Amino acid sequence: MGFKRKDLLGIRDLEVAEIEYILNLSRSFKEINERSIKKVPTLRGKTIVHLFYEPSTRTRTSFDIAAKRLSADTYSITASTSSIVKGETVLDTLKNLDAMRPDVFVIRHSASGAPHMLAAHTTASVINAGDGMHEHPSQALLDMLTILDKKKRLDGLNVVIVGDIFHSRVARSNIWGLKKMGSKVVVCGPATLIPPNIEEMGAEVSYRLEQCIPDADVIMVLRLQKERQQQMMLPSMREYSTWYGINAERLKMAKKDVLIMHPGPMNRGVEISPEVADGPHSVILDQVTNGVAVRMALLFLLAQR
Ligand code: CP
Repeated sequence: MGFKRKDLLGIRDLEVAEIEYILNLSRSFKEINERSIKKVPTLRGKTIVHLFYEPSTRTRTSFDIAAKRLSADTYSITASTSSIVKGETVLDTLKNLDAMRPDVFVIRHSASGAPHMLAAHTTASVINAGDGMHEHPSQALLDMLTILDKKKRLDGLNVVIVGDIFHSRVARSNIWGLKKMGSKVVVCGPATLIPPNIEEMGAEVSYRLEQCIPDADVIMVLRLQKERQQQMMLPSMREYSTWYGINAERLKMAKKDVLIMHPGPMNRGVEISPEVADGPHSVILDQVTNGVAVRMALLFLLAQR
């Protein structure tokens, strides 16, 4: 089947065969990242623009590294150092950058749906690098690749996503993806941080971490998004950590081969303790490594249309 789309805007719309195709291709790019010379000429002459309206360390850097390892030319626009601060709209910004004829835009924006709107106004490909509370498709793909590397399957696995589900685009993309690939997904957190309609996406809901941990093959810990919590949705960080923090004591209840994941950035000591984040079950840095390979695959597929 391959992957014939102009854009990658979310996981929700993807077919299982498309996800499998991207993950298989990502695996072949992993090998390039282990070489001493990590560069191939595949995208020579192609232009990638990173347009980030929100902060990012992992996503922006790994898209940039991915593009450069494929020999594409890359340009990064951040909100604070561009004419965005003078009041230029996101659409005007896109139209002006589009006039320079790039091949791919990689966009992060605080508004859900912003990449979809922009994709309708450019013939270049658009990759959603995180839009509001909606989707973060490349994160879900690198998460699925990491689970597959370690567990050799997604089908039949029990994945528990813990924490601030309400504000999490990572959770939404992972629920869409993991459910399509046959995993069971349980979301666990305080009621105020679980969206009311999350079961419609196929996830089960639990408010008791102790009930979820023993059966989990994978525990995906989410960052408590302090910047998105305008209304007080929690009594205190300390209380959150007491009830939902993943620490060494709680991990004693888990399977011996449980995987601990976190998309980053972590609030150490809040949603995850340092000994778990850095411990033997953690695959958090494997996720970051796989992020480069997945983003190479995505840029390869979209820039070569
Ligand atoms: N996982 C993730 O999106 O991290 P960044 O915000 O650093 O890109």
